[in-house]
Amino acid sequence: MSCPGYPPLMGSELTHIPVLADEVVTMLDPQEGQVFVDCTAGLGGHACLIAQKIGPSGTIVLNDMDQGNLDRAKASVANALCPQSPGEARVHAIRGNFAELPGKLRELGLSADMVLADLGFASTQVDDPQRGLSFRFSGPLDMRLDPSMPITAEELVNTLSERDLADIIFRYGEEKASRRIASKLVAAREVEPITTTDRLAEIVRSAVPGPRGSINPATKTFQALRIAVNDELGSLDALLRLLGIALKKSAQGQPSWVASGARVGIISFHSLEDRPVKRAMSEWSGAGWGEAISRKPIEAKDAEIVSNPRARSAKLRGIRAN
Ligand SMILES: C[S@@+](CC[C@H](N)C(=O)[O-])C[C@H]1O[C@@H](n2cnc3c(N)ncnc32)[C@H](O)[C@@H]1O
Repeated sequence: MSCPGYPPLMGSELTHIPVLADEVVTMLDPQEGQVFVDCTAGLGGHACLIAQKIGPSGTIVLNDMDQGNLDRAKASVANALCPQSPGEARVHAIRGNFAELPGKLRELGLSADMVLADLGFASTQVDDPQRGLSFRFSGPLDMRLDPSMPITAEELVNTLSERDLADIIFRYGEEKASRRIASKLVAAREVEPITTTDRLAEIVRSAVPGPRGSINPATKTFQALRIAVNDELGSLDALLRLLGIALKKSAQGQPSWVASGARVGIISFHSLEDRPVKRAMSEWSGAGWGEAISRKPIEAKDAEIVSNPRARSAKLRGIRAN
């Protein structure tokens, strides 16, 4: 698949590849002139592919909590939607948490024919050492996807009680050694505050016995702190709740930000995200508000996983609004 405005970045940043690109386009089934709402615009990879299908008469709403990503996405998507005159493309860029998106769509008077949420973080975020999202890079212990948010991972690690830290690491990282890790963190911060990714990774390693194959022992703790800092599961729950209300309304013929017949796709990257998505979609179809587009989650083929290892854990689920 090609896209004139995509990839939007140059040089070393050209690492972003939209996950399950063909599968998303097939599921969302874009038609000329339709309205696409991208809850997680990222770098606009998926949106750009949809833009090519809906053409200049189509409308795209891009939402992201990261202003830098949103700006990049807007430029490339406008170009893909309306290559002759990108300035005239109907692209709305909305910065914020997707949990607040439905209210903004109502203000715009838009009803979506396609909705996508591609959860988690973008390559620009995880590969930026200053974000502190990865133990692969030395950096400050930040982890915010939206740098204007108030709480960083540094604050959590240095202020939460040992018990709360253990709970977060267990619940959001599904880490069996959570208590040992929390105890080591508390001991270490008494010596000196934990302020960098390197130090956090080193402390976790000291608490986790033995190697874990090719998986870095710090993986689960980093995931847990990132989920907590960004309240990722709380936002997902809120989005699912609002989608449920919208699907119910459209099934009942009431005005809704999700149009009747709309296709809704959600890509998750770990079981903590996939479980609520699976549960919500089965509730919606059980209530007669929509029909599952695929009975099983759609996963990446081997060829995609080779070129984009993050695709290995991606699961796409979808529903068509009644
Ligand atoms: C996996 S990337 C999306 C990539 C995008 N589909 C593409 O093709 O370029 C996820 C994006 O969602 C954003 N994000 C994560 N959680 C969010 C939330 N609760 N509200 C708004 N944006 C969010 C992140 O900032 C990131 O840019």
